[in-house]
Amino acid sequence: MDISQLKREAGVKACQMVEDGMTLGVGTGSTVAYFIEELGRRHREEGLCAHCVPTSIRSAEALRKAGMEVCDIDKVGRIDLTVDGADAVDPDLNGLKGLGGALLWEKIVAENTDHYVWIVDERKLVPSLRGKVCLEVVKFGSGRLLKELEECGLNPSFKQGENGPALTDSSNYLIELDLGEIKDPAFLATDLKQRTGVIEHGMFLGMVDEVIVARENGVEIIKKAIA
Ligand code: A5P
Repeated sequence: MDISQLKREAGVKACQMVEDGMTLGVGTGSTVAYFIEELGRRHREEGLCAHCVPTSIRSAEALRKAGMEVCDIDKVGRIDLTVDGADAVDPDLNGLKGLGGALLWEKIVAENTDHYVWIVDERKLVPSLRGKVCLEVVKFGSGRLLKELEECGLNPSFKQGENGPALTDSSNYLIELDLGEIKDPAFLATDLKQRTGVIEHGMFLGMVDEVIVARENGVEIIKKAIA
């Protein structure tokens, strides 16, 4: 089975959780694109309606195209359910997000959500977090911040767009850290968050309630262990 088919299966499965009239957070990325497509199908064929809070301009556009209502996060109450993708998920359901550049809005939406779900294909499950950690940073002084991160051995680089550094939907820059295994994710998250100029990082620790994993042999749902 090809990867896009797995992504579609995860998206379709997550869409079964959506109930009419919900306030719905909608993530960003290629897996979420299938979720939005299925929302559109249910809207057309079943009359499904939801107040959708998008995590990026491109998801807002896709939702509108699918016929869904798009709402301002400040104009809705708590978000009932948010469905988003992830770049890597460890066995404790900690994850890395943001390679699509939308991590800041994604984290704000997630923090205002009652039930937070990721949809991934099986390649995203990892024994421990490693690889690219994305940071959204203010433009002012970002070159100095890059040097500071370099001196700490965090292998930073600006994410590039078509004409220079990529810009987020909030007109900030993105810095990607190329890391080996992250031995202590909580420590790194705190360290990154306290650096002036860093607005947010792509480590989503202990946030997700459920992960829908599309595998070659079917869809698995992994739920957060109740403490
Ligand atoms: C967007 O900023 C990211 O957090 C995405 O949710 C993540 O990169 C997953 O994207 P794909 O579904 O395209 O792999």
